[in-house]
Amino acid sequence: MSAPLPPLASIPPDVAAVSDYEPLAQARMSAATWAYFAGGAGDEWTLRENVAAFARHRLCPRALRDLRGGSTRTRLLGLDLAAPILLAPIAFHRLLHPEGELATVLAAGAMETAMVVSTQASVRLEDIAARAQAPLWFQLYIQPDRAFTADLVRRAEQAGYRALVVTVDAPVNGMRNREQRAGFALPPGIGPVNLQGMRLPPAGPPGGLLFGNPLLEMAPRWDDLVWLRGLTRLPIILKGITHPDDARQAVAAGMDGLVVSNHGGRTLDGMPASIDLLPPIAAAVGGQIPILLDGGIRRGTDVLRGLALGAQAVLIGRPYIFALAAAGAPGVAHVIRILRAELELAMALTGCRDVNAIDASILTG
Ligand code: FNR
Ligand code: LAC
Repeated sequence: MSAPLPPLASIPPDVAAVSDYEPLAQARMSAATWAYFAGGAGDEWTLRENVAAFARHRLCPRALRDLRGGSTRTRLLGLDLAAPILLAPIAFHRLLHPEGELATVLAAGAMETAMVVSTQASVRLEDIAARAQAPLWFQLYIQPDRAFTADLVRRAEQAGYRALVVTVDAPVNGMRNREQRAGFALPPGIGPVNLQGMRLPPAGPPGGLLFGNPLLEMAPRWDDLVWLRGLTRLPIILKGITHPDDARQAVAAGMDGLVVSNHGGRTLDGMPASIDLLPPIAAAVGGQIPILLDGGIRRGTDVLRGLALGAQAVLIGRPYIFALAAAGAPGVAHVIRILRAELELAMALTGCRDVNAIDASILTG
């Protein structure tokens, strides 16, 4: 196998779509790192379905509508964004680029969007904030050590993060077979630096599987969200809500937003595509709090479909992380720009002058 190539010094002119970054990224990392970033859980049915399902929602163009003064600008939980496209939390950007999250945040600022910084970021959350022109949200994994978790929330508040995105669909890692087969392991010098000093839960019983393991015994429950709600005044957004009853319970618990997500197909293989999870949740929430969507968004037309089915905004994961690997901050900015350009085109052709005009009428039957 040949050694990974260095990042590109400039963006090749034949990169026309977000997916064009995939082979460029793959050539710039080891096979094991590729398996970690590109792979999903189990047989990867959900991973594939996330992308495939968008195409089943066919678009319905409308002619001759008034498009003057059109815009993709979006207000979301106090943010004013150029477009309804945010950067999803992804662990360990330094695996892909020497500057890691610092390169990503530069691109988010340049493109006037927000970045959700992972609990498992490979750069200190304070250092990312110090560099940021972009608004930041902090993705929180509630840790077995609740005192450490409270301290993490304080640090995010003090560093100026504007919301907490609490990921609730991954109390334990999925069975990521592709990653296991490739033997992925973090290299020395790259790790979850924001968790340094945390007390780790005791090891599970020898020979045990998952039940009874302290990690699962200490996994967050609805009670912990009541605790968190009392701890901070930041908006709290739950990421990984996929059932309408859970969505109703989130509203009742005073949550400020939801991300409908199947974690990019990395947790429970067999879940429906995220776009297909969205309509029943949008119906259950009935506009009481904003809904975001992630998973499989590769085109501006996918963003349009997400908004048509009830999301206020979307997050992208692998598209920007592959662009980071291929071309650093300019690559990430380029991916956001491509999606924005495609969204504007799709809005123009479906007769939608602004994001509020996008509804289910732009989908056929
Ligand atoms: C993720 N995701 C994720 N989510 C989260 O809440 N915290 C995290 O640390 C991570 N880390 C992470 C690493 C990698 C390598 C991937 C691919 C994904 C999930 C992520 O936020 C998002 O839900 C999906 O990536 C969206 O799907 P697409 O856009 O990648 O198809
Ligand atoms: C993942 C964890 C970090 O999906 O959320 O890799």
